[in-house]
Amino acid sequence: MLFCSRLASLAPLALACALFAQPADPVPALLAQMTVEEKVAELTQRGGGEPLGPDPAANARELDKLLVQARAGAVGSYLGACGAAHTNRLQAATLERSRLKIPALFAHDVIHGYRTIFPTPLAESSSWDPDLAERTAAVAAREARAGGVRWTYAPMVDIARDPRWGRIVEGAGEDPRLGALFAAARVRGFQGPTSADHAAVLPADRLLACAKHFAAYGAAEGGRDYNIADTSLLTLRQVYLPPFKAAADAGVASFMTAFNEVDAVPATASTFLLRAVLRDQWRSPAVVISDHSAVSELVAHGVAADRRDAARLALRAGTDIDMACDAYADHLAALVKDGLVPMPDLDAAVERVLRLKARAGLFVDPMTDETLEARVLLAPEHRALAREAAVRSMVLLKNENSTLPLKPGLRRVLLTGPLADSGRDILGTWAALGKGGESVTPLAGLKPLAARASFDLRHEPGCKPAADDAAALARALDEARQADVIIAVVGEEETLTGEGRSLSMIELPAPQQRLLEALKATGKPLVVVLMIARPLALSWVADNADAVLIAWHGGTEGGSALADVLSGDKNPSGRLTVSFPRNPGQIPIHYNHKPTGRPNQPGNRFTTGYLDVPITPLYPFGHGLAYTTFALSPVRVASTVLQPGNVLTAQVDITNTGDRPGDEVVQWYVRDPVASITRPVKELLAFSRITLGPGETRTVRLSIPVAELAFLDASGNLVLEPGEFRLHAAGGAMRTPDVVLTLKPKM
Ligand code: NOJ
Repeated sequence: MLFCSRLASLAPLALACALFAQPADPVPALLAQMTVEEKVAELTQRGGGEPLGPDPAANARELDKLLVQARAGAVGSYLGACGAAHTNRLQAATLERSRLKIPALFAHDVIHGYRTIFPTPLAESSSWDPDLAERTAAVAAREARAGGVRWTYAPMVDIARDPRWGRIVEGAGEDPRLGALFAAARVRGFQGPTSADHAAVLPADRLLACAKHFAAYGAAEGGRDYNIADTSLLTLRQVYLPPFKAAADAGVASFMTAFNEVDAVPATASTFLLRAVLRDQWRSPAVVISDHSAVSELVAHGVAADRRDAARLALRAGTDIDMACDAYADHLAALVKDGLVPMPDLDAAVERVLRLKARAGLFVDPMTDETLEARVLLAPEHRALAREAAVRSMVLLKNENSTLPLKPGLRRVLLTGPLADSGRDILGTWAALGKGGESVTPLAGLKPLAARASFDLRHEPGCKPAADDAAALARALDEARQADVIIAVVGEEETLTGEGRSLSMIELPAPQQRLLEALKATGKPLVVVLMIARPLALSWVADNADAVLIAWHGGTEGGSALADVLSGDKNPSGRLTVSFPRNPGQIPIHYNHKPTGRPNQPGNRFTTGYLDVPITPLYPFGHGLAYTTFALSPVRVASTVLQPGNVLTAQVDITNTGDRPGDEVVQWYVRDPVASITRPVKELLAFSRITLGPGETRTVRLSIPVAELAFLDASGNLVLEPGEFRLHAAGGAMRTPDVVLTLKPKM
């Protein structure tokens, strides 16, 4: 009776206990009683954030509008609504006059944390640790749920190969297999142990997840956000869809359509994606929601004559909920009346939405305990996990003369760069309720280290993020000349990254580049810490810095984690999940590219490549160093002859050849050199993260069904072709020779 007693203390809610009278499955009865207008309301999502502008009177008016709208029963779910008190108020208004007592669902973009912010998703993928992603998603869910949210628009599982696209930061990089593992892990983290069961009510500390943006949004042409994506069906199947399929298999509760077109049809109107792939092939019962205004945007795409036509196309294709543009609210009822949208299509969409609400536990308890937030948000264990995640995400690109970790006995250290004390930037894009004032900046993180190691920590920004400052530069250079080592924290302000933030030049902002060049001229050891959200073209940094560490936008505890790594308390272990080009002209550049008829031969003009730059990236996928070194033995296999139905097993020994404990990510790659269609020059097959003490050796085993060597054809069928496969293992900076395996034809 928890629900009744709690509600009794809130708003006028005589309806409350009526909900308890709902049968175990309230959906069929509700559907049978609903009017067309009530059904359309379920498919209508509007913004519902608490008005928190500077003018209290204006806020009150806005809130009043929200409550009037809720009482009118026109909205089934809200975008951006959060805060236990606010969502309870909206929920109470929704239920107050609702004929059928259908609660509202509150959705929010909880992408990499709610109040405790974790490293951005691309950063976190550099940990090569899906279990970590599951744990951070679980904490994000716990916090958001305490804040009244039940549905997150995450994980974003778009494979992206173009760093000009600002949204590359939201995904897990360029590899479909790694992307699929992270997609499934994040879905499990958000949705919890019952994730795969669409009929089970979520635990009280979990969220409905949403795999987005379905599909191929990461292929936006030219890296320009919202642009078309022109991929072959094969590339769609082999590269862009696998993470969505993995999310579907993990039981993801919803999918969000992409803004782009696929094969000349906008995703929001794509019967191919929303029916043939999602329902018929993958058998997913997940709700499909449009991206923001994507239904109306079918007009601008040029496939719908007007918003009414857009509503018809989207609903008929399988877009269940219209996010924020009211095309359904304005036109769906009339479309049904005029026979242009069949009632069964409408009912199927509404049924899915009601089941989503049931899964969110709304028919059990639609309210949120308002005492939870104080206990749950920014809990010490959440901050501890944020610190661990930030440490595991950092990637050491270069470390000449063992410049890092910082040596004992330092006298004076200069911390410079315009991002060294920016609490907001370190949180990154989509920081939900994260607050800059609650995050640990690099400066704040290094202060306790300086006290412990007894060095004099000096801080001078040297410039602004996007503007020179001559006086600041002079002060920084003066300090640099007196310092034993310079730590320069440079990179991207968070406002340069994320949605609607494409760049044509992926370089350090010019004032920051000038700062680095001036610091270099002092001759002092230069450690460059990159606070970035996408690969930048870093050739100068790679050539001139003594050490280069990618700290990304590390979240609430980013500064403490940086101190852990700079001091050597923690050994960096991240590995790139996206290639870093030498310059933007190399884009797209990714490790799993196809061979050409004329593979690159340096110096031979009539082979694939450039005249002015090598064909290789500056730093490849999988790259990363540590403060120790590792060695791999040649790969051993029990048999080089495989039969379909076998398990492929292989072993490699890895040794920590240095003098500190450290983690290496052992990566297994395969190549299918001759097939009926062209296959990538190499593909990630599996990986594991191994912790080794100094001098320690361990054997790492690969055990994977031979069926995993199959490729997807354009219809989504797996094709396993007999013949040769080449297998090798690799670490952050090494690889083994190939082992040649032969797959025999099926007997
Ligand atoms: C647009 C973005 O593309 C999407 O990822 C996000 O979830 C929605 N806006 C809602 O904020």
